[in-house]
Amino acid sequence: MGESIFQQYMRKRNNIVKNRKILQNTHIPEQLPHRKEQIDKIASVISIALSGEKPSNIMVYGKTGTGKTATLHYIGKELKKADPKEMNCSFIYVNCEVVDTPYGVLYNIGNQVTVDPGQKIPFTGWSFEKVYSVLVDMIDNEDKVYVVVLDEIDRMVFKKGDDIFYYLTKINENLKKSKVSLVGISNDMKFLELLEPKARSRLGGESLVFPPYSKLELEDILQERADIAFDPNSIDKSVIPYCAAIAARVDGDARIALDLLRTAADIAERNGDSVITDAHVKSAKNSIEFDVVSEAIKTLSSQSKVVLMSIMLISEKELKMTTGDVYTKYSEISDYCGLSRLTQRRVTDLISELDMMGIINASVKSFGCAGRTKEIELSVPKEMCSLLKNDPLFKNLDRSVRTGQTKLI
Ligand SMILES: Nc1ncnc2c1ncn2[C@@H]1O[C@H](COP(=O)(O)OP(=O)(O)OP(=O)(O)O)[C@@H](O)[C@H]1O
Ligand SMILES: [Mg+2]
Repeated sequence: MGESIFQQYMRKRNNIVKNRKILQNTHIPEQLPHRKEQIDKIASVISIALSGEKPSNIMVYGKTGTGKTATLHYIGKELKKADPKEMNCSFIYVNCEVVDTPYGVLYNIGNQVTVDPGQKIPFTGWSFEKVYSVLVDMIDNEDKVYVVVLDEIDRMVFKKGDDIFYYLTKINENLKKSKVSLVGISNDMKFLELLEPKARSRLGGESLVFPPYSKLELEDILQERADIAFDPNSIDKSVIPYCAAIAARVDGDARIALDLLRTAADIAERNGDSVITDAHVKSAKNSIEFDVVSEAIKTLSSQSKVVLMSIMLISEKELKMTTGDVYTKYSEISDYCGLSRLTQRRVTDLISELDMMGIINASVKSFGCAGRTKEIELSVPKEMCSLLKNDPLFKNLDRSVRTGQTKLI
Protein backbone atom coordinates (compact mmCIF):
# COMPACT_ATOMS: atom_id res chain seq x y z
CA MET A 1 0.00 0.00 0.00
CA GLY A 2 1.38 3.41 -0.98
CA GLU A 3 1.26 6.40 1.30
CA SER A 4 -1.81 8.60 1.55
CA ILE A 5 -1.88 11.64 -0.70
CA PHE A 6 -2.07 13.74 2.44
CA GLN A 7 1.27 12.59 3.77
CA GLN A 8 3.28 14.85 1.46
CA TYR A 9 1.42 17.87 2.84
CA MET A 10 1.85 16.73 6.40
CA ARG A 11 5.58 16.31 5.87
CA LYS A 12 5.89 19.70 4.25
CA ARG A 13 3.82 21.55 6.83
CA ASN A 14 5.93 23.30 9.38
CA ASN A 15 4.36 24.09 12.72
CA ILE A 16 5.07 27.72 13.49
CA VAL A 17 1.90 28.52 15.41
CA LYS A 18 2.10 27.35 19.01
CA ASN A 19 -1.36 28.50 19.95
CA ARG A 20 -3.78 28.78 17.08
CA LYS A 21 -6.81 29.79 19.11
CA ILE A 22 -5.21 33.03 20.19
CA LEU A 23 -5.16 34.24 16.57
CA GLN A 24 -8.82 33.51 15.94
CA ASN A 25 -11.26 36.40 15.82
CA THR A 26 -13.49 34.73 18.38
CA HIS A 27 -10.76 34.75 21.01
CA ILE A 28 -11.36 37.30 23.76
CA PRO A 29 -8.03 38.58 25.04
CA GLU A 30 -7.42 39.15 28.76
CA GLN A 31 -6.43 42.75 28.11
CA LEU A 32 -7.63 45.19 25.47
CA PRO A 33 -4.85 47.66 24.75
CA HIS A 34 -5.99 51.20 23.80
CA ARG A 35 -9.57 50.73 24.92
CA LYS A 36 -9.12 51.83 28.52
CA GLU A 37 -11.06 55.05 28.04
CA GLN A 38 -14.07 53.25 26.52
CA ILE A 39 -13.98 50.49 29.11
CA ASP A 40 -13.87 53.03 31.96
CA LYS A 41 -16.75 55.02 30.53
CA ILE A 42 -19.02 51.99 30.07
CA ALA A 43 -18.01 50.50 33.43
CA SER A 44 -18.76 53.77 35.23
CA VAL A 45 -22.27 53.88 33.77
CA ILE A 46 -23.01 50.20 34.37
CA SER A 47 -21.45 49.91 37.82
CA ILE A 48 -24.62 51.02 39.65
CA ALA A 49 -26.25 47.79 38.44
CA LEU A 50 -24.14 46.04 41.07
CA SER A 51 -26.09 47.85 43.77
CA GLY A 52 -29.40 47.02 42.13
CA GLU A 53 -30.07 50.30 40.36
CA LYS A 54 -30.82 50.74 36.70
CA PRO A 55 -27.98 52.21 34.63
CA SER A 56 -28.79 54.53 31.69
CA ASN A 57 -29.01 52.93 28.30
CA ILE A 58 -25.84 53.21 26.26
CA MET A 59 -25.28 53.45 22.51
CA VAL A 60 -21.86 52.38 21.26
CA TYR A 61 -20.78 53.40 17.76
CA GLY A 62 -17.71 52.59 15.73
CA LYS A 63 -16.51 51.23 12.44
CA THR A 64 -15.95 47.54 11.96
CA GLY A 65 -12.99 46.04 13.83
CA THR A 66 -12.69 48.82 16.40
CA GLY A 67 -13.15 46.45 19.35
CA LYS A 68 -16.79 47.11 20.26
CA THR A 69 -17.82 43.47 20.66
CA ALA A 70 -14.57 42.54 22.38
CA THR A 71 -14.97 45.42 24.84
CA LEU A 72 -18.53 44.48 25.80
CA HIS A 73 -17.53 40.83 26.28
CA TYR A 74 -14.74 42.06 28.50
CA ILE A 75 -17.18 44.20 30.50
CA GLY A 76 -19.47 41.16 30.86
CA LYS A 77 -16.62 39.09 32.25
CA GLU A 78 -15.67 41.80 34.73
CA LEU A 79 -19.27 42.23 35.85
CA LYS A 80 -19.44 38.52 36.54
CA LYS A 81 -16.20 38.76 38.53
CA ALA A 82 -17.74 41.49 40.71
CA ASP A 83 -20.98 39.55 41.22
CA PRO A 84 -20.13 35.86 40.62
CA LYS A 85 -23.47 34.50 41.76
CA GLU A 86 -25.38 37.13 39.79
CA MET A 87 -27.18 38.24 42.91
CA ASN A 88 -27.76 41.81 41.72
CA CYS A 89 -27.13 41.83 38.05
CA SER A 90 -26.94 39.61 35.01
CA PHE A 91 -25.25 40.29 31.72
CA ILE A 92 -27.01 39.17 28.55
CA TYR A 93 -25.43 39.35 25.10
CA VAL A 94 -27.42 39.05 21.87
CA ASN A 95 -26.05 39.40 18.37
CA CYS A 96 -28.89 40.83 16.30
CA GLU A 97 -27.28 39.81 13.06
CA VAL A 98 -27.53 36.16 14.03
CA VAL A 99 -31.00 36.29 15.59
CA ASP A 100 -32.41 38.74 13.14
CA THR A 101 -36.14 38.70 13.90
CA PRO A 102 -37.82 40.50 16.81
CA TYR A 103 -39.10 37.09 17.94
CA GLY A 104 -35.57 35.73 17.76
CA VAL A 105 -34.21 38.51 19.94
CA LEU A 106 -36.84 38.02 22.67
CA TYR A 107 -36.42 34.23 22.46
CA ASN A 108 -32.69 34.60 22.88
CA ILE A 109 -32.96 36.99 25.83
CA GLY A 110 -35.62 34.84 27.49
CA ASN A 111 -33.60 31.70 27.32
CA GLN A 112 -30.61 33.42 28.88
CA VAL A 113 -32.78 34.83 31.69
CA THR A 114 -34.50 31.68 32.81
CA VAL A 115 -32.83 28.89 34.70
CA ASP A 116 -36.00 26.83 34.91
CA PRO A 117 -36.11 24.41 31.94
CA GLY A 118 -39.91 24.14 32.23
CA GLN A 119 -40.19 27.84 31.47
CA LYS A 120 -38.53 27.99 28.07
CA ILE A 121 -39.90 30.06 25.19
CA PRO A 122 -40.36 27.78 22.15
CA PHE A 123 -38.27 28.42 19.06
CA THR A 124 -41.37 29.27 17.01
CA GLY A 125 -45.12 29.18 17.37
CA TRP A 126 -46.02 31.90 19.86
CA SER A 127 -47.18 35.35 18.90
CA PHE A 128 -44.77 38.21 19.47
CA GLU A 129 -47.07 39.62 22.18
CA LYS A 130 -47.09 36.32 24.04
CA VAL A 131 -43.30 35.98 23.95
CA TYR A 132 -43.01 39.55 25.20
CA SER A 133 -45.38 39.06 28.11
CA VAL A 134 -43.75 35.75 29.13
CA LEU A 135 -40.36 37.46 28.94
CA VAL A 136 -41.60 40.22 31.23
CA ASP A 137 -42.73 37.58 33.75
CA MET A 138 -39.43 35.74 33.53
CA ILE A 139 -37.46 38.91 34.12
CA ASP A 140 -39.69 39.96 37.02
CA ASN A 141 -39.32 36.57 38.63
CA GLU A 142 -36.31 37.93 40.48
CA ASP A 143 -35.25 41.30 41.70
CA LYS A 144 -32.31 42.07 39.50
CA VAL A 145 -30.79 44.40 36.96
CA TYR A 146 -30.37 42.84 33.54
CA VAL A 147 -27.78 44.50 31.34
CA VAL A 148 -28.79 43.47 27.83
CA VAL A 149 -26.28 44.03 25.04
CA LEU A 150 -27.78 44.18 21.56
CA ASP A 151 -24.84 43.87 19.19
CA GLU A 152 -25.09 44.82 15.49
CA ILE A 153 -28.39 46.48 16.31
CA ASP A 154 -28.42 48.31 12.95
CA ARG A 155 -28.65 45.02 11.04
CA MET A 156 -31.93 44.36 12.69
CA VAL A 157 -33.59 47.67 11.85
CA PHE A 158 -32.68 47.50 8.21
CA LYS A 159 -34.15 44.07 7.99
CA LYS A 160 -37.32 44.13 10.00
CA GLY A 161 -38.43 47.51 11.33
CA ASP A 162 -37.93 48.82 14.79
CA ASP A 163 -40.85 47.85 17.02
CA ILE A 164 -38.55 45.50 18.91
CA PHE A 165 -36.69 48.55 20.21
CA TYR A 166 -39.92 50.17 21.15
CA TYR A 167 -40.86 47.12 23.23
CA LEU A 168 -37.45 46.67 24.78
CA THR A 169 -37.12 50.32 25.74
CA LYS A 170 -40.51 50.40 27.39
CA ILE A 171 -40.06 47.06 29.15
CA ASN A 172 -39.23 48.78 32.46
CA GLU A 173 -42.76 50.19 32.57
CA ASN A 174 -44.05 46.63 32.70
CA LEU A 175 -41.62 45.44 35.36
CA LYS A 176 -42.24 45.69 39.10
CA LYS A 177 -39.06 44.27 40.62
CA SER A 178 -36.36 43.83 38.05
CA LYS A 179 -34.90 46.41 35.72
CA VAL A 180 -33.49 46.20 32.21
CA SER A 181 -30.76 48.42 30.88
CA LEU A 182 -29.80 48.29 27.21
CA VAL A 183 -26.46 48.62 25.50
CA GLY A 184 -26.85 48.98 21.72
CA ILE A 185 -23.87 48.51 19.41
CA SER A 186 -23.93 49.88 15.89
CA ASN A 187 -21.59 50.58 12.97
CA ASP A 188 -23.88 53.29 11.80
CA MET A 189 -23.77 56.65 13.56
CA LYS A 190 -27.13 57.51 12.05
CA PHE A 191 -28.76 54.50 13.64
CA LEU A 192 -30.93 56.41 16.09
CA GLU A 193 -32.35 58.58 13.33
CA LEU A 194 -33.79 55.47 11.72
CA LEU A 195 -35.91 54.66 14.73
CA GLU A 196 -39.41 55.82 15.50
CA PRO A 197 -39.17 58.97 17.65
CA LYS A 198 -40.68 57.17 20.65
CA ALA A 199 -38.08 54.42 20.68
CA ARG A 200 -35.34 56.91 19.87
CA SER A 201 -35.86 59.08 22.91
CA ARG A 202 -36.04 56.06 25.17
CA LEU A 203 -33.00 54.27 23.78
CA GLY A 204 -30.71 57.24 23.55
CA GLY A 205 -29.02 57.64 26.92
CA GLU A 206 -25.26 57.84 26.99
CA SER A 207 -23.42 57.35 23.76
CA LEU A 208 -19.80 56.81 22.89
CA VAL A 209 -17.70 56.29 19.81
CA PHE A 210 -14.89 53.82 19.28
CA PRO A 211 -12.36 55.50 17.00
CA PRO A 212 -10.38 53.50 14.41
CA TYR A 213 -7.03 52.18 15.67
CA SER A 214 -3.85 53.85 14.53
CA LYS A 215 -0.98 51.85 13.07
CA LEU A 216 0.94 51.90 16.36
CA GLU A 217 -2.11 50.81 18.34
CA LEU A 218 -2.65 47.92 15.97
CA GLU A 219 0.98 46.93 16.43
CA ASP A 220 0.44 46.66 20.20
CA ILE A 221 -2.69 44.56 19.70
CA LEU A 222 -0.91 42.21 17.31
CA GLN A 223 2.24 42.01 19.41
CA GLU A 224 0.31 40.92 22.45
CA ARG A 225 -1.14 37.97 20.55
CA ALA A 226 2.05 37.18 18.65
CA ASP A 227 3.95 36.83 21.94
CA ILE A 228 1.66 33.96 22.86
CA ALA A 229 1.13 32.49 19.41
CA PHE A 230 4.71 32.28 18.09
CA ASP A 231 8.32 31.80 19.11
CA PRO A 232 10.02 35.18 18.67
CA ASN A 233 12.45 33.72 16.14
CA SER A 234 9.76 32.35 13.89
CA ILE A 235 8.44 35.80 12.91
CA ASP A 236 10.38 38.56 11.16
CA LYS A 237 10.48 41.88 13.02
CA SER A 238 8.90 43.70 10.11
CA VAL A 239 5.82 41.46 9.91
CA ILE A 240 3.74 43.06 12.66
CA PRO A 241 4.37 46.66 11.57
CA TYR A 242 3.53 45.59 8.02
CA CYS A 243 0.21 43.95 8.98
CA ALA A 244 -0.61 46.97 11.15
CA ALA A 245 0.16 49.42 8.33
CA ILE A 246 -2.16 47.63 5.92
CA ALA A 247 -4.99 47.42 8.47
CA ALA A 248 -4.54 51.05 9.53
CA ARG A 249 -5.26 52.06 5.95
CA VAL A 250 -8.48 50.01 6.02
CA ASP A 251 -10.23 52.09 8.68
CA GLY A 252 -7.96 50.94 11.53
CA ASP A 253 -9.64 47.57 11.59
CA ALA A 254 -8.13 45.18 14.17
CA ARG A 255 -9.95 42.24 12.61
CA ILE A 256 -8.14 42.76 9.32
CA ALA A 257 -4.82 43.08 11.14
CA LEU A 258 -5.43 39.75 12.88
CA ASP A 259 -6.69 38.09 9.70
CA LEU A 260 -3.50 39.13 7.92
CA LEU A 261 -1.26 37.79 10.65
CA ARG A 262 -3.14 34.50 10.94
CA THR A 263 -3.31 33.94 7.17
CA ALA A 264 0.38 34.84 6.76
CA ALA A 265 1.29 32.25 9.41
CA ASP A 266 -0.91 29.70 7.64
CA ILE A 267 0.74 30.33 4.30
CA ALA A 268 4.22 30.07 5.82
CA GLU A 269 3.30 26.75 7.43
CA ARG A 270 1.84 25.38 4.22
CA ASN A 271 4.96 26.35 2.29
CA GLY A 272 7.09 24.54 4.86
CA ASP A 273 8.88 27.78 5.80
CA SER A 274 10.15 28.20 9.33
CA VAL A 275 9.88 32.00 9.59
CA ILE A 276 6.93 34.27 8.75
CA THR A 277 8.06 37.09 6.44
CA ASP A 278 6.62 40.12 4.66
CA ALA A 279 6.22 37.98 1.54
CA HIS A 280 3.75 35.79 3.42
CA VAL A 281 1.85 38.89 4.54
CA LYS A 282 1.69 40.04 0.93
CA SER A 283 0.17 36.72 -0.18
CA ALA A 284 -2.20 36.87 2.77
CA LYS A 285 -3.32 40.32 1.68
CA ASN A 286 -4.07 39.09 -1.84
CA SER A 287 -6.01 36.11 -0.63
CA ILE A 288 -8.06 38.14 1.86
CA GLU A 289 -8.83 40.79 -0.75
CA PHE A 290 -10.02 38.11 -3.12
CA ASP A 291 -12.36 36.70 -0.46
CA VAL A 292 -13.72 40.11 0.47
CA VAL A 293 -14.41 41.16 -3.10
CA SER A 294 -15.95 37.86 -4.13
CA GLU A 295 -18.25 37.98 -1.12
CA ALA A 296 -19.24 41.55 -1.99
CA ILE A 297 -19.99 40.57 -5.59
CA LYS A 298 -22.07 37.59 -4.53
CA THR A 299 -24.32 39.75 -2.38
CA LEU A 300 -24.94 42.52 -4.94
CA SER A 301 -28.52 43.14 -6.09
CA SER A 302 -29.47 41.69 -9.50
CA GLN A 303 -29.46 45.14 -11.10
CA SER A 304 -25.99 45.89 -9.76
CA LYS A 305 -24.78 42.53 -10.99
CA VAL A 306 -26.00 43.40 -14.47
CA VAL A 307 -24.21 46.75 -14.32
CA LEU A 308 -21.01 45.08 -13.19
CA MET A 309 -21.37 42.38 -15.82
CA SER A 310 -21.69 45.08 -18.49
CA ILE A 311 -18.49 46.73 -17.29
CA MET A 312 -16.67 43.42 -17.21
CA LEU A 313 -17.75 42.51 -20.73
CA ILE A 314 -16.76 45.86 -22.17
CA SER A 315 -13.42 45.76 -20.41
CA GLU A 316 -12.58 42.52 -22.19
CA LYS A 317 -12.08 44.78 -25.23
CA GLU A 318 -11.50 48.28 -23.89
CA LEU A 319 -9.80 49.18 -20.65
CA LYS A 320 -11.81 52.37 -20.11
CA MET A 321 -15.41 53.24 -20.95
CA THR A 322 -18.05 55.93 -20.42
CA THR A 323 -21.36 55.79 -18.58
CA GLY A 324 -23.07 55.76 -22.00
CA ASP A 325 -21.13 52.65 -23.08
CA VAL A 326 -22.10 50.91 -19.87
CA TYR A 327 -25.72 51.91 -20.23
CA THR A 328 -25.98 50.51 -23.76
CA LYS A 329 -24.53 47.18 -22.68
CA TYR A 330 -26.62 47.24 -19.50
CA SER A 331 -29.83 47.70 -21.51
CA GLU A 332 -29.00 44.68 -23.65
CA ILE A 333 -28.23 42.41 -20.75
CA SER A 334 -31.04 43.49 -18.44
CA ASP A 335 -33.56 42.82 -21.24
CA TYR A 336 -31.98 39.48 -21.76
CA CYS A 337 -32.16 38.56 -18.09
CA GLY A 338 -35.78 39.63 -17.99
CA LEU A 339 -35.16 42.48 -15.54
CA SER A 340 -36.96 45.78 -15.83
CA ARG A 341 -34.66 48.36 -17.36
CA LEU A 342 -33.56 51.16 -15.03
CA THR A 343 -33.05 54.72 -16.23
CA GLN A 344 -29.54 55.90 -17.06
CA ARG A 345 -29.65 58.05 -13.97
CA ARG A 346 -30.26 55.04 -11.70
CA VAL A 347 -27.56 53.07 -13.47
CA THR A 348 -25.19 55.98 -12.86
CA ASP A 349 -26.04 55.69 -9.14
CA LEU A 350 -25.29 51.97 -9.19
CA ILE A 351 -21.98 52.71 -10.92
CA SER A 352 -21.12 55.12 -8.09
CA GLU A 353 -21.95 52.42 -5.55
CA LEU A 354 -19.65 49.92 -7.24
CA ASP A 355 -17.01 52.65 -7.23
CA MET A 356 -17.41 53.19 -3.49
CA MET A 357 -17.09 49.48 -2.90
CA GLY A 358 -13.77 49.57 -4.77
CA ILE A 359 -14.86 47.06 -7.40
CA ILE A 360 -14.57 49.62 -10.18
CA ASN A 361 -12.94 52.97 -10.61
CA ALA A 362 -15.10 55.81 -11.88
CA SER A 363 -13.71 59.31 -12.29
CA VAL A 364 -15.55 62.30 -13.70
CA LYS A 365 -14.09 63.57 -16.95
CA SER A 366 -14.99 66.91 -18.45
CA PHE A 367 -15.27 67.35 -22.22
CA GLY A 368 -15.57 71.11 -22.35
CA CYS A 369 -18.86 72.24 -23.88
CA ALA A 370 -19.78 68.65 -24.64
CA GLY A 371 -20.40 68.12 -20.92
CA ARG A 372 -19.14 65.66 -18.40
CA THR A 373 -19.20 61.91 -18.17
CA LYS A 374 -17.61 59.27 -16.04
CA GLU A 375 -14.59 57.34 -17.15
CA ILE A 376 -14.95 53.84 -15.81
CA GLU A 377 -12.57 50.95 -15.43
CA LEU A 378 -12.54 47.69 -13.56
CA SER A 379 -10.35 47.74 -10.48
CA VAL A 380 -10.43 44.08 -9.51
CA PRO A 381 -8.53 41.28 -11.23
CA LYS A 382 -10.19 39.72 -14.28
CA GLU A 383 -10.47 36.35 -12.48
CA MET A 384 -13.28 37.93 -10.49
CA CYS A 385 -15.31 38.06 -13.67
CA SER A 386 -15.60 34.30 -13.92
CA LEU A 387 -17.24 34.35 -10.53
CA LEU A 388 -19.99 36.61 -11.80
CA LYS A 389 -20.37 34.69 -15.05
CA ASN A 390 -21.27 31.62 -13.04
CA ASP A 391 -24.08 33.47 -11.28
CA PRO A 392 -27.48 31.85 -11.97
CA LEU A 393 -28.72 35.25 -13.15
CA PHE A 394 -26.56 34.94 -16.27
CA LYS A 395 -27.09 31.26 -16.81
CA ASN A 396 -28.92 31.72 -20.11
CA LEU A 397 -26.88 34.60 -21.31
CA ASP A 398 -25.93 33.75 -24.86
CA ARG A 399 -22.26 33.41 -25.64
CA SER A 400 -22.62 35.99 -28.35
CA VAL A 401 -23.81 38.57 -25.84
CA ARG A 402 -21.13 37.58 -23.42
CA THR A 403 -18.38 38.13 -25.92
CA GLY A 404 -20.11 41.15 -27.37
CA GLN A 405 -19.82 39.89 -30.95
CA THR A 406 -23.41 40.41 -32.02
CA LYS A 407 -26.13 42.55 -30.68
CA LEU A 408 -29.36 40.93 -29.68
CA ILE A 409 -31.47 43.96 -30.36
N1 LIG B 1 -7.98 46.66 21.90
C1 LIG B 1 -7.91 45.40 21.46
N2 LIG B 1 -7.03 44.54 21.97
C2 LIG B 1 -6.96 43.27 21.54
N3 LIG B 1 -7.71 42.76 20.57
C3 LIG B 1 -8.62 43.57 20.01
C4 LIG B 1 -8.77 44.92 20.42
N4 LIG B 1 -9.74 45.49 19.69
C5 LIG B 1 -10.18 44.54 18.85
N5 LIG B 1 -9.51 43.39 19.04
C6 LIG B 1 -9.72 42.15 18.32
O1 LIG B 1 -10.01 42.48 16.96
C7 LIG B 1 -11.09 41.69 16.45
C8 LIG B 1 -12.23 42.60 16.05
O2 LIG B 1 -12.76 43.26 17.20
P1 LIG B 1 -14.33 43.33 17.49
O3 LIG B 1 -14.99 42.09 17.00
O4 LIG B 1 -14.51 43.69 18.90
O5 LIG B 1 -14.71 44.55 16.54
P2 LIG B 1 -16.14 45.28 16.38
O6 LIG B 1 -15.89 46.71 16.66
O7 LIG B 1 -17.15 44.56 17.18
O8 LIG B 1 -16.39 45.10 14.83
P3 LIG B 1 -17.81 44.89 14.07
O9 LIG B 1 -18.42 46.24 13.99
O10 LIG B 1 -17.41 44.41 12.71
O11 LIG B 1 -18.61 43.91 14.84
C9 LIG B 1 -11.44 40.73 17.56
O12 LIG B 1 -10.76 39.51 17.34
C10 LIG B 1 -10.94 41.40 18.81
O13 LIG B 1 -10.60 40.46 19.80
MG1 LIG C 1 -18.81 43.43 16.70
